[in-house]
Parts: sequence; structure tokens; C-alpha cells
Amino acid sequence: MTPSDVKATLSFSDGSPSMDLPLYKGSIGPDVIDIRKLYGQTGKFTYDPGFLSTASCNSTITYIDGDKGELLYRGYPIEQLAKNCDFLETCHLLLYGDLPDEAQKKDFTARVSNHTMVNEQMQFFLRGFRRDAHPMAIMTGLVGALSAFYHDSTDINNPVHRDIAAIRLIAKMPTLVAMAYKYTQGQPYMYPKNKLSYSANFMQMMFANPCEDYEQNDVLVRAMDRIFILHADHEQNASTSTVRLCGSSGTNPFAAIAAGVACLWGPSHGGANEACLNMLGDIQKMGGVEKIGEFIKQVKDKNSTVKLMGFGHRVYKNYDPRATLMRETCHEVLGALGLQNDPLFKLAMALEKIALEDDYFVSRKLYPNVDFYSGIVQRAIGIPVPLFTAIFALARTVGWVAQLNEMIGDPEYKIGRPRQLYVGAVARDVKPIGDR
Ligand code: CMC
Repeated sequence: MTPSDVKATLSFSDGSPSMDLPLYKGSIGPDVIDIRKLYGQTGKFTYDPGFLSTASCNSTITYIDGDKGELLYRGYPIEQLAKNCDFLETCHLLLYGDLPDEAQKKDFTARVSNHTMVNEQMQFFLRGFRRDAHPMAIMTGLVGALSAFYHDSTDINNPVHRDIAAIRLIAKMPTLVAMAYKYTQGQPYMYPKNKLSYSANFMQMMFANPCEDYEQNDVLVRAMDRIFILHADHEQNASTSTVRLCGSSGTNPFAAIAAGVACLWGPSHGGANEACLNMLGDIQKMGGVEKIGEFIKQVKDKNSTVKLMGFGHRVYKNYDPRATLMRETCHEVLGALGLQNDPLFKLAMALEKIALEDDYFVSRKLYPNVDFYSGIVQRAIGIPVPLFTAIFALARTVGWVAQLNEMIGDPEYKIGRPRQLYVGAVARDVKPIGDR
């Protein structure tokens, strides 16, 4: 962090002494005001529910400019990564700070491939779930359970443990997601095939069965890989902040990532892709394109809780750059599968057009986000809707782990412990039950 020459001065109207607060400059993006000594010097906290103005850490991993619609991983624009790199190269970049050269890529791929299987006991753990359990319920359990199987990589203070845990998590997530899917289908699990690429292996574990080989379709494999790249990290979003906060207590990486999975599940976050597809299904049931106007009316009604899922973002006040890339992939996939006339896709396109022209959305800078298209792509690939968020979790694992390891490696890191503005009852005495 580079200190700025500028200082912020905080003054109070009640005559309390003012206080100078240091400012720090990042390499790009807004400066931050350092308030760490505020409480000690003034006895006051800051108040920022939802963290609208709070930088919770400094980070070198991902940068978003929400007004420009820009996303950089370690300085590289997401567009260039999505077009020129594969997911494992992106993982290497996020974890270690730079894109691998050929030798590093070979080595990294071999290390990940070496860890794709999960302990055979995991199957029995899975058996405890109902067959109709939501995949994210299963994933929250399975990822947390990894800490019971891989004791030799649970010491968060040991850099070697952290690295092995990172590789294990990246390698095993596809296996676990595919197992969760196969379990709900009542089909046998397919073991990983390490000669395949990361994404092709995932497709194989999802769609092959012991009686038939799965014929890879390069367009679909590439689409899956792109979904992974686009979801790999997104700076201090809710689930990443959850992972950091959870990890700040010194818990093991598997437990911290399980917390991230749980947070991602919510419909305002990773669950939006599933919610978006369900919303399209609901509009379809209402009568399809003709009913979009009626649906938009409900969205705009202040008394309703209906939202246009897949639209809006806390940080992007411009087109989400991931949405542009996902839209492109969406056209490619539907073209390759001959699904251009798919009614749900047509409905999505009509909804997008109307929302982009409607003053409600325009004035609030609500644009489609990545989830508006990723659900359509996944559905076309054959992924069942309830599994969408689990795939997001698979992809985001590398980001969570990179952010967790960055935090632990920071000599200034402390357990996360926000404070509050207490507005409850002041101290009072407990009365005997008959007098209450
Ligand atoms: N549909 C209708 N109105 C919306 C929407 C939407 N999708 N998103 C925001 N608004 C309105 C909101 O009601 C508010 O209006 P007003 O100023 O009249 O009260 C205004 O826009 C500002 O919204 P906000 O709720 O203050 O914004 P936020 O930053 O707290 O919420 C969000 C961001 C992503 C939670 C929200 O836009 C949303 O719920 N979107 C739908 C869910 C979704 O697609 N989430 C995926 C995000 S991308 C994937 C990821 O990173 O997880």
C-alpha cells in the first residue's frame, strides 16, 4: 500500500478534537482512508452495513472497475484470458500471480491431475443424503467433509499445507460436483480420466456412464471452460469475504471454502443463475414473450419482491464484461446444438431487449450480469438447473483459495471482527417469571 500525500481530516460538530486519517493509493481504483486508529483515538466506530464504502483488505488478485465494466485477473483483462487461456492457466495465474509458461503449465496440470480422485469413503458420506437433496446442500457437506480426509493439508499456517490444499480443492471439486449429480440421478459415479483436460474430464464425469463412452463436443467443452474462467474470481464478493472471515479464525482451508459454498448458494449471489432460469420458466408458463410486459410491471412494483434475476450488480454499473463473453458463448453453444429457436433463449433475448430500453433499469444502471446467460448455456449443455450454482462453486474455488492464501500470507492479517451500533435494550434486571 502506497501512502498518499493527502490526508483526510475528520472533524466533529460537538467540539471533540478532529483527527487526521492517512490515505493509501492502490495501483488503480479509489484511494482508501485508513480508519484503523479511529476507535482508539475517538471512541467511535464507522457504520457501513453491506460494506458499501469499506475496503476490507488490500489485494493483488482481481480488479473490477464497475463504471467501465472492466475485470482484470492479476492485471490481465478477462476478455484476453477467456479467449487465449484455459481454466488451469487461469488457476495458475490466480494462485501464483502469473500465467504459466509451457513447463509450468505441464507441471501444474500434472499436480492437479494427480489429485482428482476423492477418498473412496466420500461415496458413503454421500449416501447419507436424500436423492432429491439440492446439490448445494450436498456440496456444502462434501467440501467441509474433505477436512476429515486430508489431515496432512489442514494447517493453514503452513505454506506447504496451504498449497496442497489449494491443489486438492481445485482438483476434487469437479469430481464432487459430478458425484453429487450422479447421486441425484441414481447413476454410478464415473472416475476422473486424467488424460483429459480439466473441463473435458468434468463433462466425462457428468455425462458418461459405464455402458457408454461420452463423445466430447469441443464447443461444449470450451463453453464449460469459459464458464469456469469467467467465474474464477471476483474480488471481495460475499462468498469470498465469507471465506476470508471464516479463514481468519485459523480454521482449515476446506472448512473455509465450505463456508464460501454456503454463502454462494443464495439467490442474490451464485444462486442467481438457477433463479434466472426458474424465472424464465415462470414467464414461459405465464404465456412467454407476450407476458414480458406484465412480468416487468411486477418487477417495478415497489410492493412486490419480484426481481429481474440475472440483472444488476453491486459493483458493475455498466455491462458486466463476463456477460458479454457469456452471451457470445451462448450463441456459439446454441448454434452448435441447433437450438437457436429454443423458446427459453428467445424469451431471454426479448427480456434483455426490453429491460435494456426500460427507464426503470436504465436509470438504475441495471445491466445483465454473467448469470443471465450462464444458465442458458448450462441448460443447453444438459446440466440440470439445480446444479448451476454448484458449477459456479467449482469455478470460484480457485478464487476463494487464492484470496484465503493471500490473507494468511499477509503479515498484517488479524481475525475479522466487525463491531456494531447497538440499538437494543439498555441493561435491565430479570424479574421473577410471575412478574414479567
Ligand atoms: N431487478 C429489479 N430491480 C433491481 C434489481 C433487479 N435485478 N437489482 C437492483 N434493483 C433495484 C433495487 O430495487 C433498487 O431500486 P430502488 O433504488 O428503487 O430502491 C436499485 O435497483 C439498487 O439496487 P440495490 O438492491 O441497492 O443494489 P445492490 O447492490 O444491493 O444489489 C444485487 C445487487 C446483485 C444483489 C441485485 O442487483 C440483485 O438482486 N440482482 C438480481 C440477482 C442477481 O442477478 N445476482 C447475481 C449477481 S452476479 C453474480 C455474482 O457475482 O454472484
